[in-house]
Amino acid sequence: MAAPTVPLPQLYERVETIMPAAEWAAHAPLIAEINALKAEREAVILAHNYQTPEIFHGVADITGDSLSLARHATQVDARVIVQCGVHFMAETSKLLNPHKTVLLPDLRAGCSLAESITGADVRLLRERYPGVPVVTYVNTSAEVKAESDVCCTSSNAVDVVESLGTDRVIFLPDEFLGQHVANHTDVEVIVWRGHCEVHERFTGGQVRDYRAGHESLTVLAHPECPQDVLAEADYVGSTSGMARYVDERQPAKVVMITECSMSDNVAAQHPEVEFVRPCNLCPHMKRITLHGVRDALRDLAPAVEIDPSVAVPARAAVDAMLAVGRR
Ligand code: 13P
Ligand code: SF4
Repeated sequence: MAAPTVPLPQLYERVETIMPAAEWAAHAPLIAEINALKAEREAVILAHNYQTPEIFHGVADITGDSLSLARHATQVDARVIVQCGVHFMAETSKLLNPHKTVLLPDLRAGCSLAESITGADVRLLRERYPGVPVVTYVNTSAEVKAESDVCCTSSNAVDVVESLGTDRVIFLPDEFLGQHVANHTDVEVIVWRGHCEVHERFTGGQVRDYRAGHESLTVLAHPECPQDVLAEADYVGSTSGMARYVDERQPAKVVMITECSMSDNVAAQHPEVEFVRPCNLCPHMKRITLHGVRDALRDLAPAVEIDPSVAVPARAAVDAMLAVGRR
């Protein structure tokens, strides 16, 4: 069942430090409509940390990084899941809930990492490195997951790689995350050259400029960033890892080297923390809008479907990842 509906004034309190009342007034009717439809449809909304504040704080039932959304997707007690995120996230929810309706408000919400590799590429890599296991970042299509031994996210990549007990792994498709993993394990990591179009744009020079311009700045970076950026960071972790850092350490001034809605969402919860905000938007995440969510709930479409011949092996790779956390 969906969570009980929170009254609009209480929802606005969640964002009032980052959203002017006039902007909220424009969102409020749709938020009310979505929350009513959600109850009617017995739906639950899963939203990634990069969703806009009106979605993240206004209509989502469950928020988080890719790993926590995947874990929650295994526990969802609702007939319908609305994924506010990108296509690979909705596919993961569908893999874990084959009998539920999984809606993605805009099927064009892709990901440059997912688009960087195909199932045929994975088969060629296996021919080139016989017997070497394939660890695949969840930012991939179900077709690529189906060719993989195990999935990982930015939260658990090192643990997953080490869980295999081999000297070498093939790591797909994010080159920078793969290099980051290689720096934190003795396992040899063979990387693919995929990049996130949002994180690859950051540079170490940019981070040094932020530090020069802001005294006592804490720099948090996502591991999809290039190596020279990560070398400048005080903390490297998943989107939820960065949010947790702010919750627990309460730095006076912080910059999150990641997609920009993330800073808005965390800043709304921490008015006492000063946020320096570079704004690199993920155009795919931004395809998800309140209008799209409302239409998806109204029409129960577009739904994500996965051919069973792909879904069964792809789910096995996701289940293998989830089992690592339970050990
Ligand atoms: P997280 O798993 O850290 O939320 O990252 C997902 C993503 O797409 C980052 O660009
Ligand atoms: Fe993909 Fe990058 Fe967008 Fe995340 S931020 S969904 S990795 S393109």
